[in-house]
Amino acid sequence: MRNKISTLHRETGVAWDATAKLYEDSEKSDIEFLRDGGNNLMEPEQRILADLETWCNCAIHLQCAGGKDTLSLLTQGAKEVIGIDISQRMIASAKRRSDSLQANASWYCCDVLDVPKSLDATGDLLYTGRGALPWIMDIQTWAEVVHRLLRPKGKLFVFEGHPLDWIWDTNASDIRFHVERNNYFTEKIVGGERWPFPFLARQEDLELANLRMHERQWTFGQIFEVLLNVGFNLVHFDEYPVPYWDQFPNIPKEILTRLPHTFSILAERK
Ligand SMILES: C[S@@+](CC[C@H](N)C(=O)[O-])C[C@H]1O[C@@H](n2cnc3c(N)ncnc32)[C@H](O)[C@@H]1O
Repeated sequence: MRNKISTLHRETGVAWDATAKLYEDSEKSDIEFLRDGGNNLMEPEQRILADLETWCNCAIHLQCAGGKDTLSLLTQGAKEVIGIDISQRMIASAKRRSDSLQANASWYCCDVLDVPKSLDATGDLLYTGRGALPWIMDIQTWAEVVHRLLRPKGKLFVFEGHPLDWIWDTNASDIRFHVERNNYFTEKIVGGERWPFPFLARQEDLELANLRMHERQWTFGQIFEVLLNVGFNLVHFDEYPVPYWDQFPNIPKEILTRLPHTFSILAERK
């Protein structure tokens, strides 16, 4: 089972490697943005982590991509950040950003499920989300990793796409079930040989043909169950009408915002 999951993760990682070009293209503007004190975290994230400076020496970002959000955690108040991602190119791009800024940051290229034990109990904050959880095929092991990376009383913060968004048709001009992904409770892994998301499919200059990527949705029941089981106390949970990216470009805002599109969780390691 674990071998099969590692293979799926590896294939997804190769696909993200190809997508890293998008992140490389924005290195210069991201560096300027961060140098000017910019913070790429969204409004609910900045509000919930408003007092970060008072309790966070080390923030660990799982699935950090090109590191813009990781480095924004420094702006938000963390003293040191560690970014982890399975894509070599993403990590190389993140390192170029932090080297330019001489930021207190370090980077690890590995599967989330294989983060080195040397990082155990080092995090005051474990930050993740905005397109992270659906790529993880084993949420129980994910929760165990998150737990071991945090010091006792350390906090997990997740700001992620709402699981309900999984079932809506991204091409429709109204709220309508997706023709295939139309069951909130499905355990099915989807993806295969093309990027399922319109945002990435629109990047015509990327050579994404023949890549395989695998994603699935996790319900709130599944997420909360593993977090409580591995030893977290739930501190905060909320839902928001704002998507974290423009995946429903044809649905009028007035209709779109009647449904939740993102959520946040703050949980404390016992
Ligand atoms: C949508 S991005 C997350 C993006 C980040 N929130 C941002 O806005 O830049 C997803 C990231 O997860 C990484 N990833 C996917 N599966 C992974 C795994 N099993 N272990 C580590 N990283 C993974 C990908 O390489 C990619 O950089």
